[in-house]
Amino acid sequence: MNHLITGLLVAAMVCFIMGLRAMSRTHSARRGNLISALGMTLAIIGAILELVRLEHLAMTQAWIILAAIGLGALIGIPAALRVKMTAMPEMVALFNGFGGIASLFIASGEVVASGGGMTGFTASTAFLAMLIGGITFTGSLIAFGKLAEWIPSRAICFPAQHVLNALLLLAVLVGVVSFAIWPEAQWIFWAAIAVAAVLGIMAVIPIGGADMPVVISLLNSYSGLAACAAGFAIGSPLLITIGALVGAAGIILTKVMCKAMNRSLGNVLFSGFGSATSSGGGGPQGEAQSLLPQDAYYVLEAAQSVVFIPGYGMAVAQAQHAVRELADTLAANGCDVRFAIHPVAGRMPGHMNVLLAEANVSYDLLVEMDDINPSMPTVDVAVVIGANDTVNPAAVEDPESAIAGMPIILAHQARQVFVLKRSMRSGFAGIENPLFFRDNTWMIFGDAKTTIEAINGEFKEG
Ligand code: TAP
Repeated sequence: MNHLITGLLVAAMVCFIMGLRAMSRTHSARRGNLISALGMTLAIIGAILELVRLEHLAMTQAWIILAAIGLGALIGIPAALRVKMTAMPEMVALFNGFGGIASLFIASGEVVASGGGMTGFTASTAFLAMLIGGITFTGSLIAFGKLAEWIPSRAICFPAQHVLNALLLLAVLVGVVSFAIWPEAQWIFWAAIAVAAVLGIMAVIPIGGADMPVVISLLNSYSGLAACAAGFAIGSPLLITIGALVGAAGIILTKVMCKAMNRSLGNVLFSGFGSATSSGGGGPQGEAQSLLPQDAYYVLEAAQSVVFIPGYGMAVAQAQHAVRELADTLAANGCDVRFAIHPVAGRMPGHMNVLLAEANVSYDLLVEMDDINPSMPTVDVAVVIGANDTVNPAAVEDPESAIAGMPIILAHQARQVFVLKRSMRSGFAGIENPLFFRDNTWMIFGDAKTTIEAINGEFKEG
């Protein structure tokens, strides 16, 4: 029995490491997910067998746990199947929150079971698991509410906010040291749960606008750190390993995203980007010129090089299949076709890659922002499909802009720019886009899929 359990737990750890590795590449990501799911299954079976072996769990309790897992699956599987691609970040936010509260429960269980007789090490790690788990839980719920627009998605700031946060942080630091010294004073632990819950809310409300993806990734990292601390508290090497993997992966992704927006993590967390007081980039900047799909056809038909720049609107319109058809037609027409991918286009990392892969666009045609930008001035037509912030020239030209310094795809440098969107409304960051008013830009108003299909229709007729 002992060897079987050890074998299951080691196999689970190996699955998690291999799964994470496979997830770092688009073509193997799906396999990575399956390997990780297998690891989780092995981990659950191993953990239950271990508890039974130690006689910490009666067989009936083991069945109750399995029934609870079944119930969770009954809720989780339909939710995961039904969730729209555009609502994935919300779902990830909820997952992070559940991870956080699970660690909080593990730590609380350890405190209750110890009856105050813990070592200083166990007390402090249980406290940290509760603290980080609590912050992750309430922070993730706020992030979910903002992304789902149940609460205002802009940054909410008020006077003395940083002072209040600092005081709360000081309170929990005093709490962790006190609890490590006096683990029998359990009230410290229970009172700190309330402080952690408030801290989670306070940490996320001042973050808004385009910074939400970074926060989701950071909360993901927190949920890993909370699990890692819980693993130390209960002496579970498996939990420590998984927690460390999630914590490290989350923080690496957070760093990659900050780099893509040219922001420091401190600036994301504390600057109140997207609040009412942030620079909005001014009002409308002139008259935008517009074009019909029929006219766009003539230009595209004659173009030697076309770069498609997809954004969130392509996901909303589900235009990826129509776009692939147009790309194929243009390529057959002798045109050099590429897709420019901004690292934070859409609403989650890799959003555009996933959509284009779904439409069978070859990976070879996808070019990352840094690689395509130098060639943008030689491009005949840049076709912006539902992208806005990620092609906003204010980021590189207006130091006063709220997104100043954020790297963008330099669509405005192309000879001609077509912007496919439904209106003149702003994008996620809520700021004006001067690209729409440039001399070389033509707006093609309407749903992106309808517009592309109309152009495809013209090609068929032509
Ligand atoms: P956004 O700046 O969000 O702009 C999307 C545009 O799509 C909107 O201006 C909208 O204009 C248009 N649109 C919506 N539905 C459409 C439809 N059916 N047909 C045509 N157009 C449609 O997009 P982006 O350039 O991809 O930038 C992403 C933004 O989200 C960045 O600010 C980024 O920081 C943030 N963000 C990114 C992530 C990640 S990790 N990718 C996660 C969360 C947030 P109309 O309403 O006028 O049509």
